Amino acid sequence: MSGLDGRVAIVTGGAQSIGAAIADGLAAAGAKVVVGDLQPSDVHECLPLDVADEASVEACVGTVAANHGRLDIVVNNAGIMFETPIAEQDRAGWDRMLAINLTGPMLMSKHAAPHLAENGVGSIVNLGSIEGDRNNLHHAAYAATKSGVHGLTRATAIDLGPSGVRCNAVAPGWIDTPLNANYVDTHPDRAEVIDELAKLHPIGRVGAPSDVADVVVWLAGDESRFVTGQVITIDGGRTVRPPLPGLLS
Ligand SMILES: NC(=O)c1ccc[n+]([C@@H]2O[C@H](COP(=O)([O-])OP(=O)(O)OC[C@H]3O[C@@H](n4cnc5c(N)ncnc54)[C@H](O)[C@@H]3O)[C@@H](O)[C@H]2O)c1
Repeated sequence: MSGLDGRVAIVTGGAQSIGAAIADGLAAAGAKVVVGDLQPSDVHECLPLDVADEASVEACVGTVAANHGRLDIVVNNAGIMFETPIAEQDRAGWDRMLAINLTGPMLMSKHAAPHLAENGVGSIVNLGSIEGDRNNLHHAAYAATKSGVHGLTRATAIDLGPSGVRCNAVAPGWIDTPLNANYVDTHPDRAEVIDELAKLHPIGRVGAPSDVADVVVWLAGDESRFVTGQVITIDGGRTVRPPLPGLLS
């Protein structure tokens, strides 16, 4: 893919996994990419960023716009996940999940909006999840944030559309990264878990970070110019196949 020559992008949480693949994909398409993360990137220019801290967000966005003269693309990828039954959910954990997964994308979009509007090609891509619409066990906080991200995406698209800025989300299914290691590691045989997960997917495998990155690059650029306010599922078909009893499937 190409067509992002001259565009400047921030990818939050771009130091590893899905965010790193997105940063690589945007750079391969010609964009100047700056990663904002709690940890450094080995590959791309990187600024320290805590998306839950408004001062940190404002500093990161302002630095990129000042250093590179423009800001065209924001990918709100930084996120965390943990498992807690609703009856045991403590307030601090709940607040932390919301601050990073939901408030973070709002703060990034708020501070980036004036810059994104300057050149008429602004694009925000949020990382939602299939768990924005259906949920795994003990994921009340995570599910709430991802449902929120889907709503935030639509609201942002409506608010910023008149200034020429689009906002979309991707909703990945199971992508093999450290984020879901807690789930996988509850079973002693990782390969067996991945094999069983693969059987849930009509495409026959779990996802890779690049599967998400390719769609994000498309949403970031002009080929998707009339697409806004959408949540695009990237799950190998997993969620369109309702479960059958084991003896039939
Ligand atoms: N892996 C999946 O199956 C999956 C599925 C659906 C959605 N997602 C979403 O995709 C995104 C990336 O997931 P991943 O699997 O690559 O996760 P990951 O844990 O491998 O990477 C997350 C990155 O975000 C950074 N980060 C965490 N908190 C931050 C903060 N406060 N400020 C800035 N950076 C921060 C981390 O340092 C890390 O580099 C998340 O929003 C996640 O919810 C992942």
